[in-house]
Amino acid sequence: MTFKQRVFSGVQPNGNLHLGNYLGAVVKFVELQTNYDCIYCVVDLHAITVWQDPKELPRTIREVTAAFIASGIDPKQHIVFNQSQVAEHAELAWIFNCVARLGWLNRMTQFKEKAGKDRERASVGLYAYPNLMAADILVYRATHVPVGDDQKQHLELSRDIAQKFNNDFGESIRAHGFGDAFFPQPEPLIQGPATRVMSLRDGTKKMSKSDPSDQSRINLTDDADTIALKVRRAKTDPEPLPSEVTGLEARPEADNLVGIYAALAGQAKADTLTEFGGAQFSTFKAALTDLLVAKLSPITAEMRRLVADPIYVDSVLADGSARAQVIAADTMKAVKDIVGFIRR
Ligand code: AMP
Ligand code: TRP
Repeated sequence: MTFKQRVFSGVQPNGNLHLGNYLGAVVKFVELQTNYDCIYCVVDLHAITVWQDPKELPRTIREVTAAFIASGIDPKQHIVFNQSQVAEHAELAWIFNCVARLGWLNRMTQFKEKAGKDRERASVGLYAYPNLMAADILVYRATHVPVGDDQKQHLELSRDIAQKFNNDFGESIRAHGFGDAFFPQPEPLIQGPATRVMSLRDGTKKMSKSDPSDQSRINLTDDADTIALKVRRAKTDPEPLPSEVTGLEARPEADNLVGIYAALAGQAKADTLTEFGGAQFSTFKAALTDLLVAKLSPITAEMRRLVADPIYVDSVLADGSARAQVIAADTMKAVKDIVGFIRR
């Protein structure tokens, strides 16, 4: 069976969107709009796998939505919505809870990292999270999933779930006229020069919303002065920049800053080093600040404007949810028939 090509991806509303989210995910979301039908989801059901303050959550949902639109995602041509408005995500996730095996989930490194030492106290949702992620993608039978490097393992699990569903229910899938496979094998799109942006304070740790130090990341809401200060304080080493990419090996902080510059400039790291090889960090950091401010400040300004208009943002989410639900409901009907449920 050939599947209609469709892009799906999600971003959690669980704090400040940062440069890693932008370069690792959102920039690709924007590019893919030209050649694919795209569905971009603010995954609020995922966010509550760790505690979210109900007074803050609506603001963060709107902020991620605003970041999508401000970065250039067109919510009319494509679909932008928040996950909790389409109940089919949770419905399919339950079925996947019964398809995925404990052994598979036990291997998920992100759960181990997020749960920490006191695993007994982690929510059941945090553990089952990859099954919900598989449901997000497969409820639209999406074929392509742009994500940062950290989501690779979860994507592999989604493929395993799709395959096991197709195998376990193979006879029923054929009997209902869906051919040999009901779900596609979603393909991860982990590409580009910045699939893993690192912390400004430690080049061996990824830039993350949950890092307690705000100095470790550039938020999409940071103003020019804040960006300048964070870049000035970013950890470096005492050597000038190398002229060749091989000279970045074993220099994680230098590698990260050069990677950020190259990604923003739309060039290869080698090109950045042709320009800045031999330069001191003070010179390079000034150029990096200018580039960051030039690229991010229009987005930040547009995000501010949108966040100040929650009625508009909520209308985008309502419209997107209604359109997403049409597709999701269609999938769920078929899934219910395949599994053997009786439906209206
Ligand atoms: P999250 O904030 O965990 O919902 O992530 C949203 C998207 O941003 C996912 O596709 C992640 O893989 C991507 N992402 C998050 N942090 C980084 C990072 N430091 N570098 C590159 N991509 C990232
Ligand atoms: N788990 C992803 C993250 O933390 C977010 C996400 C949820 C997602 N559902 C998805 C990404 C489906 C891609 C496709 O970044």
